[in-house]
Amino acid sequence: MKYQELIDRVKNEYDLDSKSIEYILEYYFNIKGELEYASIDNEVFNILINKVKRLKAGEPIQYVVGNVDFYGNKFTVDKRVLIPRFETEELVHYTKEYINKYFKENISLIDVGTGSGAIGLTLKKEIPSLNVTLVDISTEALEMSSINAKNLGLKVNIYKSDMLKETIKRKEKYDVLISNPPYLTKIEEIMDIVKKNEPSIALYGGNDGLKYYRLLFRDAKLILKDKALIALEIGATQADDIIKLANKYFEGCPYEIKKDLEGRDRMFFLFYNLGD
Ligand SMILES: C[S@@+](CC[C@H](N)C(=O)[O-])C[C@H]1O[C@@H](n2cnc3c(N)ncnc32)[C@H](O)[C@@H]1O
Repeated sequence: MKYQELIDRVKNEYDLDSKSIEYILEYYFNIKGELEYASIDNEVFNILINKVKRLKAGEPIQYVVGNVDFYGNKFTVDKRVLIPRFETEELVHYTKEYINKYFKENISLIDVGTGSGAIGLTLKKEIPSLNVTLVDISTEALEMSSINAKNLGLKVNIYKSDMLKETIKRKEKYDVLISNPPYLTKIEEIMDIVKKNEPSIALYGGNDGLKYYRLLFRDAKLILKDKALIALEIGATQADDIIKLANKYFEGCPYEIKKDLEGRDRMFFLFYNLGD
């Protein structure tokens, strides 16, 4: 069967838009539109139909194809981990700029609640000299971040920790603490596709959504060097609360809230003894 014939057939038989079918073909099978004259055999067809059915049943397309592009790298994802989001690429982008601005060598970074490893592994790829540690409370997420580290050929430390507990026990000290912790409240309206498919441990941050930020701010000084950067992804309505927490635990420290491309307050940076 030819590429376009296949698209038309699946589109008609399964009432699915051609973009989704093209996405599966490209991201799962590596078959792109420019190969429009390529023949597609029965095996590919059968796997494709199975994936189309999962998509129609409401699974996110990234889980269906089993990977997602994040900052130009392919990350394996499935139900064990949150699907890395575009906003998080922005967090990575600014953090990279700040690391280059404030730190010189032997730089260590910890990504807390690493999930797929998207944040920490991308920064390791961007700044190869970084010493990167990935931690998560979920063993399944750690399995996934190890898979991604291996696929990307990156050497990082990975271990299980309930927020910073294990890191404190190990007496490790870092220049950079970065995290995109769970920050939704239980009553927050979120899309069904997210609620039904993504791990709830990756989504909810206690009654007010701030539980994990509180823990991070409370314990951060125990794992940070004398001069350090904290970089956090935050919920769009949480900036004021995060600033209050920062003032409570890091009184007088300069900080910055950054907006994402949609103009929402989505990133928080704290500059601990970093000067100008
Ligand atoms: C919003 S997801 C972020 C995943 C990934 N860092 C990203 O940006 O795509 C939050 C992550 O925090 C982890 N997590 C939840 N509770 C935790 C805890 N108490 N200690 C460490 N990690 C936790 C979840 O397993 C999940 O992987």
